[in-house]
Amino acid sequence: MDNSADQIVYLNGEYIPMADSKISTQDRGFLFGDGVYEVIPVYESKLFSFKEHLDRLKNSLKAVSISNPLSDSEWLEILNTLIKKHDWVDQYIYLQVTRGIQMQRDHLPDSDLTPTVYAYTNPLKPVSTAVIENGIKVITLEDIRWLKCDIKAITLLPNVMMKLAAKAQDADDAILISREGLITEGTASNAFIVKDGTIITPPNGSKLLPGVTRLMIERIAAAHNIPLIEQEVTVEALNSADEIWLSSSTKEALPITSLNGQAVGSGKPGPVWKKIKAFYQEHKQAFIKEQSE
Ligand code: PDD
Repeated sequence: MDNSADQIVYLNGEYIPMADSKISTQDRGFLFGDGVYEVIPVYESKLFSFKEHLDRLKNSLKAVSISNPLSDSEWLEILNTLIKKHDWVDQYIYLQVTRGIQMQRDHLPDSDLTPTVYAYTNPLKPVSTAVIENGIKVITLEDIRWLKCDIKAITLLPNVMMKLAAKAQDADDAILISREGLITEGTASNAFIVKDGTIITPPNGSKLLPGVTRLMIERIAAAHNIPLIEQEVTVEALNSADEIWLSSSTKEALPITSLNGQAVGSGKPGPVWKKIKAFYQEHKQAFIKEQSE
């Protein structure tokens, strides 16, 4: 299957062709961006880091006062059913919960709304060999987002604008700088630097999303005695880093080899990234094996 016309989506209790899936124009997700989402990778038809993604979904729902419409086992059942309806080996699930449909316009939500639940899956393509060998180019941009970036909100207009600004400057992505002059994250990823063999990533808090891939990288580094600390990263530290990476569920750890037109380190993906990447693949294979037994 390579055509979205054949895709099946989950919408409010039903599995239906994507082409037939319709939501109300009065959905608060459509009108207010009033909802939260998750993106979960699927390897060999198995949901990866499901618990961590579900925990983050629950935190996002709680933070915006939308009640979780499904139990853990219902979420698992729905997502696994969706995965099985598609024959791609590796996939990624997108799921979103909005506050629901409200007929009268009011910023204040009615108290009796039924959340809209939507999920679909896509093929997960490996990162290209060109990127693995040469890395990507980023620029720095002022982080123009709100101060609740730990909530995975569907309201992504600033992220879209920053991604467009990066593209306009011929860059693949941007590293965002807070008003205090500290790096926060990428437009859809977490950020890391390496200095003298130590991996540094900004601490969790309201200025960035607690990435699940970031958490995996932290666990992998700990398991293999690779020094990793959570610490604020200044623009100066970024500019003098030996390596810079981004991480996300769909891209894993991505090496950055050009920052604002200047080479990062040797200008090639660095040795610490290579180690983490190899251990990450090992971890994935062990997970797939364990799930198959
Ligand atoms: N984005 N920070 C932001 C702002 C993100 O949007 C994402 C993920 C991450 C990385 O989180 P994780 O490792 O859990 O994927 C960090 C997803 C992939 C997206 O919006 O499509």
